[in-house]
Amino acid sequence: MKNILLLGSGGRECALAWKLSQSPLCGTFFIAPGNAGTAEYGINLPVSYNDFEAIGKACIEYKIDIIIPGPEDPLVLGIYDFIKSNPALRHIIVAGPTKAGAQLEGSKAFSKKFMERHNIPTAAYQEFTKDSFEQGVAYIKRSEMPIVIKADGLAAGKGVVIAQNAAEAVKAFRAMVMDEQFGQASSKVVIEQFLDGIELSVFVFTDGTNYVLLPEAKDYKRIGEGDKGLNTGGMGAVSPVPFADDEFMLKVTERIITPTVSGLKQEDILYQGFIFFGLIKVKGEPYVIEYNCRLGDPETEVIIPRLENDLVELILKMEEGKLDEVAVQHSSRAAGAVMLVSEGYPGHYEKGMIMTGFDSVKGSLLFHAGTALKDGKVLTNGGRVLAVTSYGDNITKALEKSYENAALISYSGKYYRRDIGWEFAEK
Ligand code: AMP
Ligand code: GLY
Repeated sequence: MKNILLLGSGGRECALAWKLSQSPLCGTFFIAPGNAGTAEYGINLPVSYNDFEAIGKACIEYKIDIIIPGPEDPLVLGIYDFIKSNPALRHIIVAGPTKAGAQLEGSKAFSKKFMERHNIPTAAYQEFTKDSFEQGVAYIKRSEMPIVIKADGLAAGKGVVIAQNAAEAVKAFRAMVMDEQFGQASSKVVIEQFLDGIELSVFVFTDGTNYVLLPEAKDYKRIGEGDKGLNTGGMGAVSPVPFADDEFMLKVTERIITPTVSGLKQEDILYQGFIFFGLIKVKGEPYVIEYNCRLGDPETEVIIPRLENDLVELILKMEEGKLDEVAVQHSSRAAGAVMLVSEGYPGHYEKGMIMTGFDSVKGSLLFHAGTALKDGKVLTNGGRVLAVTSYGDNITKALEKSYENAALISYSGKYYRRDIGWEFAEK
């Protein structure tokens, strides 16, 4: 039995908590800081996931054997290196990459150069700083439109601008490098070719040499139906992805996944954990839009329910470097998740609305995102509030069930998109 500490407080972590707590290998299970949903599966600790000192203390106090970082921040800040550099903590298994490995997500310039070195298909690009501002403007002027401007570092999902013309592109570029819109994170900028295609999210779990392919997913990022309006963290997700057929996935593994895992190894970058490939299919061919060093949210809420293996066992195999011994099993059932959000999200929204209706839900999994427990009541506590996930014989059936149950949850200002999975509708 292993004592486990999961870091994070979103829908992704609630789905991971649901899964981990089912393992016969799971000992005492903690989530820092967690939410009202994770409290059903383990013990929430009032510790921020970026407070490494407090995490270290909790690990000693609760005899933690395994840490699973949910979000990117602790990984990019070096939680792995922090744990491994402390003699009292270094026996702990960390299911996530080193700080060097997390640069795949933490630095777009790093990830673009990495892909270039390993011949991994991605959009053509150049990188610029304040000192090369004029060259950047010239690059924009001779490029085809639209064009994509990306802050190098983490910018809370706001660091990407798709510009329709050169004036818009220069404006975004100037705001990032000259006006330091995202501080240090935009002191370097990647300017890249716009790829026109359909996106999907592919996930692997690697021990640094071998990897297992997890179910793939598609998420819906815009706030409005018909994929309109502002970008959000994600309003829903489906798995599997019908257009990710065997032929396409073979290209993905041969051209993208295998060269990524072996490229990291060749460069002596220790990477044991999840890799999230944000891909785009253009005329049948896969390209990398971005790497993430963690699982996606809300993708986790559909891929983890479809993973039939014991996740703790996978983590132990990862530690031994023996993921090649694991046969990964994906459920033949589809899964569909609908995210309930707060009125006003992704802009300003209120917290603290009383939530009811949980007991009337039948046949769906409820993964809490922004919720908190107060005096025995569940209150909204974030923009994305609750993911309603269901299984079905196909995506349409899964989503019908999720929508049936989404209607039964009540709180003031509830909003959700009613068209998740629209392009895959079947009878
Ligand atoms: P990110 O914040 O890095 O996830 O990027 C946000 C979104 O911008 C992606 O999910 C894509 O929809 C879009 N995007 C980023 N790069 C490109 C590109 N080169 N071509 C087309 N769309 C892109
Ligand atoms: N759903 C996209 C992400 O987690 O980045």
